[in-house]
Amino acid sequence: MLSKVNKIIVTGGPTREWFDPIRYISNASSGKMGIALADEAFKLNTSTVFIHGPISEHLLHGKAYKMVSIESTEDLLNAVLSELEDNSVLIMAAAPADYTPVNKSAQKIKKTEGELVITMKKTPDILKNVAQYKKSRGFKNLFVVGFAAETNDTENYAKGKLQQKDLDMICLNDVSQSGAGFNVDTNIMTIFTRSGEKFDLPIKSKNEIARDILERVSIELTKRG
Ligand code: PMT
Repeated sequence: MLSKVNKIIVTGGPTREWFDPIRYISNASSGKMGIALADEAFKLNTSTVFIHGPISEHLLHGKAYKMVSIESTEDLLNAVLSELEDNSVLIMAAAPADYTPVNKSAQKIKKTEGELVITMKKTPDILKNVAQYKKSRGFKNLFVVGFAAETNDTENYAKGKLQQKDLDMICLNDVSQSGAGFNVDTNIMTIFTRSGEKFDLPIKSKNEIARDILERVSIELTKRG
């Protein structure tokens, strides 16, 4: 079924939000989960696009699919929206920064006595923007997969995100478990679908997890006919 969609768009890696010319807010995403998904997606559909934040060059080396490099969450939003089309699949494995500094100093902030306070504002929620975009364009066959990186009350948060972000499927990543989540080669996932089904994926390599996720997407697309 995935060979029949127009495009598979995968996002991966962190974003960076700068507050002076040499310092930024980010997170520990390595991009490995995103690359595993893009590699496996490309085997099924050569119209695969990987939109990624700053990740190690060696991970990106020798890939035959289209790659788009971005830095901030705002950049990621713009890159995702410009790739979106109907009859395609979006898989949001990226870990975008949820906050960005209100002020970006043009010069290095100097060390002074006392504490440094950085005021932050929310970045755009990409998946919520995608849901609005999908509606406004009348896309009936855009299948959207979100991820949820959680440390506590994991199932409730994941199901909440599935609903609030109007997703077709969400991959819950309990990042407090060893061998799961950020910057490791394996992962552990629980998939929840829009129709209320739940599938547990025990620990395995990120490529094997990626294959399982894509297989589930394919099954869900087949059910839609
Ligand atoms: O890159 P690795 O080191 O391999 O690690 C993989 C991973 C842990 C980053 C990956 O498996 C993962 O869980 N990615 C999602 C990380 C995340 O941002 O989760 P969240 O629960 O904060 O966000 C929920 C969903 O909303 C995600 O699909 C996220 O991409 C998306 N999001 C988040 C923030 C934002 N401003 N807009 C969004 O659309």
